[in-house]
Amino acid sequence: MPVPAIVYDAKDSISEVNPAAEGFFNASRKSLIGNYLWQRLQVDQKLKKNFTNARKNSAQLFVNEVNLRTTNSSLCLCNLKLAPLSDDKESMLLIISPVELAGRMTQTKTAKSASKSAIGMAEMLTHEIKNPLAGISGAAQLLSMSLSPKELELTDLIVEETHRIVKLLEQVEQFGNLQSPNLKEINLHDIIDKARRSAELGYAAHMRFIEDYDPSLPPVYGDADQLLQVILNLIKNAAESAGSAGGIITLRTFYEHSFKIRWADDAGQTLPLQVEICDDGPGLPEDIRSNIFDPFVSGKDNGTGLGLALANKIIMDHKGWLSVESDPDRTVFRISLPRAPADLYHKD
Ligand SMILES: Nc1ncnc2c1ncn2[C@@H]1O[C@H](COP(=O)(O)OP(=O)(O)O)[C@@H](O)[C@H]1O
Ligand SMILES: [Mg+2]
Repeated sequence: MPVPAIVYDAKDSISEVNPAAEGFFNASRKSLIGNYLWQRLQVDQKLKKNFTNARKNSAQLFVNEVNLRTTNSSLCLCNLKLAPLSDDKESMLLIISPVELAGRMTQTKTAKSASKSAIGMAEMLTHEIKNPLAGISGAAQLLSMSLSPKELELTDLIVEETHRIVKLLEQVEQFGNLQSPNLKEINLHDIIDKARRSAELGYAAHMRFIEDYDPSLPPVYGDADQLLQVILNLIKNAAESAGSAGGIITLRTFYEHSFKIRWADDAGQTLPLQVEICDDGPGLPEDIRSNIFDPFVSGKDNGTGLGLALANKIIMDHKGWLSVESDPDRTVFRISLPRAPADLYHKD
């Protein structure tokens, strides 16, 4: 079998692997057998539960496009097949098809899965590139001590450009390392204010801000740092769309009771808390309009295309929704979030 296959027993300990699995784990059969499966393979709790249920029901399970992490910490987008062994009902056979491979075999790789696996790949690369970069920039700084002013321009350029690459890599890393949000009851206006003040001192110094807040907005159940990051990213894009002449950014909050969303699993949810970041710039470029939330999609010469992808991921992790409406002189990004659960209001 050309793809990793693992047999594990009733105690979730590995009892057999094929050579492809040895390659996948980067470990020998001997060292793998007897290991607790979930120590070798990190997946989220929900998936683990599905695995347990499949065993309980002697059922097969197919899961597409999950991110798996092995102990050597590389992230890999995979399709999984799980089935009970016919001669030993307690043991399960797990077949892992890395999506790259599956895609090549069936030619059905979608753009989405390509960008997701690109993130896993990029995360690994990031790690490997940062070390030599630090070396390059350090060497350039040492060199600069004994150079003439003319030559100094060149070492400065090396230092500046390596710094730029490191920043890009950090964004990629931030994406890969994003933790699930640490949910607390928080005031959205505090976060928006903080973002505005910080933006005004930096990339949005040339913009005028208008605030249109609903002071009675109830608290959101969110991660303050992560939501701040989202709003900063959106303000940054708005400021960058305006160009050097400047423009107006309107920050608006309001309550919309009727905003509902239906998820793929058919669960419906109300997302009544609205935050809008609106600018009067030229609007989204026509050619990338339909996929601006995908990673690495950028309409800028030196953009990373990660700002909106990260924002969208964070909002999705909050069970919220990020949407956009764009016309030539009005672009509105809207964050819609759920209210904090009612029982929280009556605490202490
Ligand atoms: N407010 C906006 N007005 C016009 N275009 C925008 C706006 N926000 C985002 N975009 C477009 O979406 C692209 C992706 O944004 P983003 O993911 O933040 O990446 P980056 O800013 O690094 O290019 C931008 O390059 C830009 O073309
Ligand atoms: Mg951006």
